Amino acid sequence: MDEVFLAGLMCRGLEPEQISEMTTIKAESLALVPLRRSHASQLYTILSDPRLYDFIPDRPPETIEELEQRYSLLEKGTSPDGRELWLNWAVFTTADWRPVGIMQATVRRGIDADIAYIISRDVWGVGYGRTATRAMIDHIFTTYDLQAVRALVDTRNYRSIGMIETLGLKPVRFIRNADHFKGEASDEYEFVLSYNDWRMGRNFD
Ligand SMILES: CC(C)(COP(=O)(O)OP(=O)(O)OC[C@H]1O[C@@H](n2cnc3c(N)ncnc32)[C@H](O)[C@@H]1OP(=O)(O)O)[C@@H](O)C(=O)NCCC(=O)NCCS
Repeated sequence: MDEVFLAGLMCRGLEPEQISEMTTIKAESLALVPLRRSHASQLYTILSDPRLYDFIPDRPPETIEELEQRYSLLEKGTSPDGRELWLNWAVFTTADWRPVGIMQATVRRGIDADIAYIISRDVWGVGYGRTATRAMIDHIFTTYDLQAVRALVDTRNYRSIGMIETLGLKPVRFIRNADHFKGEASDEYEFVLSYNDWRMGRNFD
């Protein structure tokens, strides 16, 4: 890890020993920093925008404290039964350490992982979603011996569908009435990127 990058992380309030134990991912102009309770106050404003939740069951956090509680649980990094890794990152721009989103991977080591992602509404369409998601996918394939990465996406969520298709994920299944939230049924596509497809085509541009 280079010194400038390390200094930036320390400005985020992280101690050097914490940084060396964690997996912070560098991705072009972004850094994916393992999510901590202390990130709640930084992320609260961007995550309060209701437009982020049009096609996902979650809702905006009502208070910073609510977000802190959620992140305290996620900080542990595993499901309560220990079978899954719950990996979460806060995404920052490295130029000015502005928070721009969150990334999530639910990992079953040696098997597969489900991914999810939210990027601040203010910066949609500038490539942060794709850059951060690609970096997360590369990281989990490289680290956890996965056969596949999966995303379940509401069929109306054309931004998310457009983004993951540019990363090589392919629709393998249509799930009618997969979920029901905000008063409406949600149909979903299951998108999958196999380990072999990832290895063969790491540059999808
Ligand atoms: C989905 C989301 C993360 C995309 O983030 P983003 O930073 O705007 O995405 P990018 O700028 O990296 O766009 C990547 C690609 O997505 C596609 N895309 C982006 N906006 C699009 C649009 N309006 N229409 C169609 N495709 C679009 C394009 O292929 C784009 O590539 P391009 O820039 O070369 O055209 C963001 O819209 C978001 O946070 N949505 C709310 C949360 C959510 O629904 N998460 C997904 C749960 S499954």
